[in-house]
Amino acid sequence: MRLALLGCGTVGSEVVRLLHTQSADLAARIGAPLEIVGIAVRRIGRDRGELPVDPAVFTTDALDLVKRDDVDVVIECVGGIEPARGWLVEALRAGKSVVTANKALLAEDGGTLHDAAAEGGGDLYYEAAVAGAIPLLRPLRESLHGDRITRVTGIVNGTTNFILSAMDATGAGFAEALEEATDLGYAEADPTADVEGFDAAAKAAILASLAFHTRVGAADVHREGITEVTAADVISAKAMGCTIKLLCIAARGVAADGRETVGVRVHPAMIPLTHPLASVGDAFNAVFVEAEAAGQLMFYGRGAGGAPTASAVLGDVVAVSRNRLAGVRAASESAYADLPVRPMGEALTRYHISLDVTDRPGVLAAVAGVFARHDVSIATVRQGSGGGGVAGRGEDADLVIVTHVAPDAALAATVRALRGLDTVRSVASVLRVEGGA
Ligand code: NDP
Ligand code: HSE
Repeated sequence: MRLALLGCGTVGSEVVRLLHTQSADLAARIGAPLEIVGIAVRRIGRDRGELPVDPAVFTTDALDLVKRDDVDVVIECVGGIEPARGWLVEALRAGKSVVTANKALLAEDGGTLHDAAAEGGGDLYYEAAVAGAIPLLRPLRESLHGDRITRVTGIVNGTTNFILSAMDATGAGFAEALEEATDLGYAEADPTADVEGFDAAAKAAILASLAFHTRVGAADVHREGITEVTAADVISAKAMGCTIKLLCIAARGVAADGRETVGVRVHPAMIPLTHPLASVGDAFNAVFVEAEAAGQLMFYGRGAGGAPTASAVLGDVVAVSRNRLAGVRAASESAYADLPVRPMGEALTRYHISLDVTDRPGVLAAVAGVFARHDVSIATVRQGSGGGGVAGRGEDADLVIVTHVAPDAALAATVRALRGLDTVRSVASVLRVEGGA
């Protein structure tokens, strides 16, 4: 089985090492040896340490490599939309099988890749694209195909989970925790994709597509990052017996006209400490799947890093290689349900809202009136002294309000109206609450 590897960075170099150290076992499991016939990179001369591969296989011409007749399987570990899309479409249309870790491309235009695979008759596998080493996509696309998944809730970004876990453990603010994540090599020099939720949103789109048999793209995902989460939010969460996590949530729902829908969102949320995802710390990932017959399932492990991600890539290489030797291909993309994507405004959530208000008679009633006018039911209210005053005698007070479940649009309108009250000095923070706290 002849392999073309595109990209030899963090993930690709570990793929090369694993292919070397496991070569005998892999050959036995597949029924044929694996051979790397070419590796495409950007800079041939880059120092890649001790790589167990013939330097002559390196090239800078990825397109030429994927076009070669002697290539059976293309492994893509470059990332980004173009030129990766062009290479993979070329390979798939020519009947080659593709293994990719590229979540950005799959979320942006997975349909084009699936169509090209169907056209060429090869396989398209991408276990490494979501939650690194965790076997998650195969269970969704095979093991659970006899069941009906209702909801997928996950922590799918290690960098932000490290930051939020550090804020929870040490009381640090976002900037301080991000600095620690950068120093320890968890966060990249430009952490935008992680902290603004783009990486998690791409993964959410892939998970939703598989779970609900519907093409869901990154643009369908409501996305908020963690940059606005404050140390005060973390303290407030603790007071409620909660912790804050960046969640991806993909769930079935029903629209006003009775049609079934799917909603997909990524945002920070408070979850109770008793929730299975609350104890997922450090840079670990975990995904909680709820299905009608199977009930609740939890997948946990390392979501990033060269070796863990290469493990998932190699698992796919074994699967597609076996298929090629057997002259078969895996089941095609399953997108028959074609469910409409629900707007975020229809998502049912709870909110935790912190307000700085003037402390005088009638303020609480005015605030409560805003919630009532928007048909949002208040679950709890807590008042503390604001701005250093003494509760009940100072000029300011802090109000922390937690709502019952309501449509997100109603909650957002409530917050906008609160900002317009002259007794509300500021809306200090707004966070969603998930998972039954
Ligand atoms: P790196 O930046 O470490 O490596 C990228 C590789 O692609 C490098 O070898 C680079 O070449 C090569 N490359 C870039 N542009 C071109 C080009 N135009 N032509 C040929 N080669 C090119 O990325 P990672 O290994 O971290 O990530 C690879 C993929 O895996 C991405 O899709 C990422 O999202 C995904 N992934 C990564 C995880 C991780 O923990 N890192 C986890 C899960 C998925 P050169 O070496 O010469 O610079
Ligand atoms: N930047 C990602 C993370 C890498 O922090 O989880 C894996 O996709």
